[in-house]
Amino acid sequence: MHTPIKNNISWVGYVDWTLRDFHGYDTPRGGTYNSYLIQDEKIVLVDAVKGLYVSSLLENIAELVPLEKVDYVVCNHAELDHSSGLPVVMRKLPNAVLVCNARCQKTLSAYYDTTGWRWKIVEDGEKLEIGRRTLEFHFTPMVHWPESMFTYVPEEKLLFSMDAFGQHLASSERFDEEILDEALREAKTYYANIVMPYPKQVLKTLEMASKLDLETVCPSHGVVWRKHLPEIVEAYSRWASGRVEPKVLILYDTMWESTTMLAKAIYAGVLDVPGATAQLFSIRTCTLADLVTAASDAGCCAIGSSTQNAVQMPMVSAVMTYFQGLKPPVKHALAFGSYGWGRGAAEEITAWFERVKWEPVCEPVKCIYRPDDAALAAARAAGKLLGEKAVEMAKE
Ligand code: FEO
Repeated sequence: MHTPIKNNISWVGYVDWTLRDFHGYDTPRGGTYNSYLIQDEKIVLVDAVKGLYVSSLLENIAELVPLEKVDYVVCNHAELDHSSGLPVVMRKLPNAVLVCNARCQKTLSAYYDTTGWRWKIVEDGEKLEIGRRTLEFHFTPMVHWPESMFTYVPEEKLLFSMDAFGQHLASSERFDEEILDEALREAKTYYANIVMPYPKQVLKTLEMASKLDLETVCPSHGVVWRKHLPEIVEAYSRWASGRVEPKVLILYDTMWESTTMLAKAIYAGVLDVPGATAQLFSIRTCTLADLVTAASDAGCCAIGSSTQNAVQMPMVSAVMTYFQGLKPPVKHALAFGSYGWGRGAAEEITAWFERVKWEPVCEPVKCIYRPDDAALAAARAAGKLLGEKAVEMAKE
């Protein structure tokens, strides 16, 4: 099944309604691997799909042109969700030349046996005439991998933006105006879980893209942006700028609810500050993807855990590891938690704050077995400090 996008440019990808995990990122809404076919004097396939779904891709192409008529396959990004179909694609499209940059060629050659592939290696800014239209290649390193690039078609004002502006969202709809709220919501989740570690490179990519005359942006995942392009570009610019909401994130795990009591007192303390808001997550009831998305616009975060065998509870470690890699814009923090005969959790969390350069607003808030009134008052006071910082940070 294919979908016309614009003037003989068609979507020929795969909608994966079963996808629930993308290398550790929970994807409850499924996903898509978008490939596009340009029919001009030359026939060009832009990006492939995951290897499992390559037969659908080939069927979709064959609805439009015989497979032997495809002249070029552009690979904008070597990650396996787009490239693992390439070995079959290059075998089944016997006359196709693979177009990519030198770094992408090196990566593809590490993953696959590329014997017999014919290559066209392009430089940043290089153009390729395909008839009535031109392909322009613009490198976008680290959005999402070092070899990533955009392919721009100036005559159509259309950009193939690969992972950028994507969403993991299975849908029968292909365009932004059809499911705008979901697309924007999932784009934020996608940004937080995939793109967030490299804000400087995102801003550089946005600056490059701002010089292109754009009407249509076709990412490698999710819907095509055409009616609401300014919204998604503005959102990317906001997310990459590190601007935060006046919000405190409170994350905790608990054995017997004492740490929950501290978390709720911290929450109340945040709300004592006019203008501050708080989000409270018991982490075993949430996904890592949801937690880091909530952190993507938070400047302040409290992390709490009961002490279990002299350290924090295991899911707290998982959250910290996930956050360490994705680097949400948090700057101020608080460790808290209960303990019994031996301490450990709040101390481990505090040591981790040092590693990720989150500055504690005060000493960890701790209690032995059950928080008494003094511990709850200390938690509330610490929450207030975090709330004040959150409001300050949102004004920066
Ligand atoms: Fe859609 Fe970075 O792969």
